[in-house]
Amino acid sequence: MPILTADAICVTYPNGTEALHDFTLEMERGEFVTIVGPSGCGKSTLLRVLAGLLVPTSGRVVLDGEIITRPSNHVSLMFQEPALLPWRTVESNIHLPFEVGSGVHRMPVSRQKAETPDDGHNAQIADLINLVGLRGFEHAYPRELSGGMAQRAALARALATQPPVLMLDEPFGALDALTRESLIASLESIWRAARTTGLLVTHSIRESIFLADRVVVCSPRPGQVAGIVPVNLPRPRTWDMEGWPEFTLRKKQIRAALGDV
Ligand SMILES: Nc1ncnc2c1ncn2[C@@H]1O[C@H](COP(=O)(O)OP(=O)(O)O)[C@@H](O)[C@H]1O
Ligand SMILES: [Mg+2]
Repeated sequence: MPILTADAICVTYPNGTEALHDFTLEMERGEFVTIVGPSGCGKSTLLRVLAGLLVPTSGRVVLDGEIITRPSNHVSLMFQEPALLPWRTVESNIHLPFEVGSGVHRMPVSRQKAETPDDGHNAQIADLINLVGLRGFEHAYPRELSGGMAQRAALARALATQPPVLMLDEPFGALDALTRESLIASLESIWRAARTTGLLVTHSIRESIFLADRVVVCSPRPGQVAGIVPVNLPRPRTWDMEGWPEFTLRKKQIRAALGDV
């Protein structure tokens, strides 16, 4: 059974903009799917629907056999902007998902201390900080981090509740090219270590190939599946694979699918 199914999703916004038309996709547990498509084709709209943040005009989303109509704690969604709380340390930002909804921390935020008291999650938070490569920055504040480090912290926070599905909406889009390459490679190893199902949207063909088991090519608006391209590169992936014939072949196929629509 697929972990996540988007079944004939249509989204028309109240102003009449049709963002998605009959978008259908099935994701298998543990796979990494990337969605590549031109700006404005409905990628962010799709992720918001899949995460239960937006109800589609028609069609349905099925997660683990259940129809999704509101945000689920089985899905974590990470955006382009890190959205860390500036008054909290890295460690304390990663702790946040454990507080939301648990009712444990009812204190006004301003009165909370920077140091997080151990409520049983500290070992897990330390593991997450190691996983994303932020050891030594546990007590740093967001303003003390580079853009790439802030996204690493946001990634650790997105993984804190061990979500079965991790979705990322152009997470490294605001960063320079070299930082992006290294974060994409880190993301691949983090995803493998976390044993979760990954879904990332991007407008970068090379990033979509680097990460994916399957690349879903999205047509211009209204977004529709224009093609699905499998990627048969071994893991862990490295950027030198970009020179491999398999990489070149998939790049051609994605370009063709983007151009054919
Ligand atoms: N809240 C909204 N109301 C009206 N139109 C929207 C809204 N959000 C997005 N759109 C439009 O829907 C289309 C798809 O947007 P989006 O999903 O953000 O695309 P992408 O993420 O692929 O760039 C665009 O034309 C965008 O302008
Ligand atoms: Mg977008």
